[in-house]
Parts: sequence; C-alpha cells; structure tokens
Amino acid sequence: MKKVAVIGFGFMGMTHTLNILKNPDLQLVAIVDKNPELIEKNLFNPGGNFSTGEIDPEILKNISRYSDFDECLRQEEIDAVHICVHTELHYEMAKKALLNDKHVFLEKPFTLDIKEAEELIELAKMKSRILMIAHVVRFMPPYQKLKKWIDTKEFGELKFLSMSRISGVPGWGEWKEQQSKGTSGGALFDLIIHDIDFVNYVLGVPSEIKSSYLPGLLSKNDYVSAMWSYSGSNVHVKIEGGNTFHSTFPFQAGYMVQFENASVLYTTLNGNEIRIGDDTSISEIPAGDAGEGYYNEISYFAQCILTNTQPAECLPESSLESIKLCYNHL
Ligand SMILES: NC(=O)c1ccc[n+]([C@@H]2O[C@H](COP(=O)([O-])OP(=O)(O)OC[C@H]3O[C@@H](n4cnc5c(N)ncnc54)[C@H](O)[C@@H]3O)[C@@H](O)[C@H]2O)c1
Repeated sequence: MKKVAVIGFGFMGMTHTLNILKNPDLQLVAIVDKNPELIEKNLFNPGGNFSTGEIDPEILKNISRYSDFDECLRQEEIDAVHICVHTELHYEMAKKALLNDKHVFLEKPFTLDIKEAEELIELAKMKSRILMIAHVVRFMPPYQKLKKWIDTKEFGELKFLSMSRISGVPGWGEWKEQQSKGTSGGALFDLIIHDIDFVNYVLGVPSEIKSSYLPGLLSKNDYVSAMWSYSGSNVHVKIEGGNTFHSTFPFQAGYMVQFENASVLYTTLNGNEIRIGDDTSISEIPAGDAGEGYYNEISYFAQCILTNTQPAECLPESSLESIKLCYNHL
C-alpha cells in the first residue's frame, strides 16, 4: 500500500479523497487545506458542477489534518500527493512535493506557464518520481469506448468528430475569488482543455486550428468554438465549450461522431446510453458511468507508483502539449 495526502479539500480534493478511500492500493494519511476547520462543512456542501459521491465523515476522523503543506511534509511519511488546489498554486505545490521525493498526481490544467511545466517534468525525471496530470476524460468509460472505435475502425474510418462541454460559471469554493483574479486561465484552460486533451490523446496534434472565442467572468476566452484539421487526412474535429452561462445552468458534455459506416451520439444529458445509427436503424448501448473516470485515473496512478512505471496513458509531456494547444486557440 502507498501512503498519500490530498492537498486542497474543495470539490476536487473531495472527489480524490472519495476515490482514494475506495482504492485497496492507497492509504489516505493526511488532508491539507488552508482552512482545515471547514473540512466537515465542505463535506455537506461540496460544490462542483456534478456529483461524484459522498464521503462518510466518520472515516475522516482518523485522517491527520494540516493547514500547511510544509508541516504535513515534515510530520508524515507519505509516498505521493494528490494536488487539488487552484491552478495558480499547481507549480509551487508540485515542485515542493517533487523536491521532497514524493510522487505527484496533479489536477489539470498542468500549469498555465509552459516553462514551469517543463521544469516540473525535468524535476520529476531527476528525482525519479512519477508525475501525472489528472486528465480524467481519458479514463471515462464513454470516452474510452470512443477511443477504441477510432483505433480499431470498428465503424470504418473516422470522418468528423464534434466534442462539446458547456457549463455555468463556477460558483463554488474559491472560484468566486478566481473570477476577480482571473488566474484559472478561463474556460479554455479549465474546461475545454478536457476535450482538447482527449482529441490530442486520440488523434494527435492538428496541423491547423481555426478558433473563435468570447469573454466571460473568468477570462477573455470563456467560450471557444474551434475547428481542427489534419494534413494528409480528411478528418475534421469541432471543439466547442464554455462556462459563460449562469451558475445553475446544467453541465453538459458529449460527442457526436461520423464514422464511415455509422454515426454515434453521447451526451451526459442522457448519460446512460450511447446511440449508434446508420441510414436504416439506430441502437443504444450502455455508456458506462463517466464518473468512474475519477476512480480509474487514481487506480492507474496507484499502479504506476506501485510498479514505478511511467504513466504511458497520460504522460506529463502529453499534458504539456495540451497546454500548448490551448494557447494555439488564442
Ligand atoms: N478534473 C476535473 O473534472 C476538475 C473539476 C473541477 C476542478 N478541477 C481542477 O481542480 C483544481 C481545484 O478546483 P476545485 O473546483 O476543487 O476548487 P475549490 O475552490 O473547490 O477547492 C480548492 C481548495 O484548495 C484549498 N486551498 C487553497 N489554497 C491552499 C493552500 N495554500 N494550501 C492548502 N489548501 C489550499 C481551498 O481552501 C479549497 O478548499 C483546479 O485546478 C481545477 O482546474 C478539475
């Protein structure tokens, strides 16, 4: 078993905690939050734009709590940290963890500064630690199915892929402060990056991106509509997303795909099924639970640190490429 700590106990910190507690290879030994007295209160008001399950408050009573990451590093013998603070602290926290010889599972986006991300990749190599960025969509069953169909050509060649992710402006946790500070990178780097990263993972870096964007409360790029194309291929990809809607607007994400022999539709608004049709008939197959992606990515990270194996399904170099691709939309 590997001993881990969660840094930042907001929406994502709670999601990681819940899934670490379910994992037989990981032992949660500490939670760090600058407001540890709010941990119980946060449990009953987790925020977020979807629910990933509830944590039993009794279980948390046996977990050490710290308001300061340095103090946690001094007191606890931990193998790895799950860094779930806001993006502006990703570099500082991840660097501290690596310098203290901890493996790092870092929430997306990696960092907004390319040089900082490159430095963290080098530091992880120097320290022989695993550094993985939590690109959860790569681990979500409905998206894993899509990758498989593209890779195996089960429905023929891919012709057109449309990815979307729409949300209200985040109104929980520290997000209200982020709105005034503008340090999240806006919906492009925070929300739409999920689809940018997934398409990069499955199809690679496009040769051309045509993009339009609109401002919102977090940045000048809180709504993005983009077309990607690949030289030497007829595949076109549309990526659309944003969080310019009011906070209570229902979260929705999904994909529409035109393969040579079938068209496929998945939307979280009807998240139990994926519809697959041709010109004569349409059928439904179970989508699998997208929320399981959080358990799957943490299990994968756990296997990587147990076996000291690089996270081939989500290398930090690939996560850095996704940051660079975000910038290419501006
Ligand atoms: N993978 C996903 O689906 C997903 C979803 C939402 C957010 N995120 C990412 O997760 C990160 C956090 O977002 P969130 O929605 O959980 O935010 P949040 O505001 O709900 O939580 C942030 C937490 O960090 C704590 N914190 C702040 N400074 C700290 C410090 N110096 N030391 C310790 N704790 C500190 C805060 O008290 C708060 O509890 C962001 O980078 C965001 O992009 C990922």
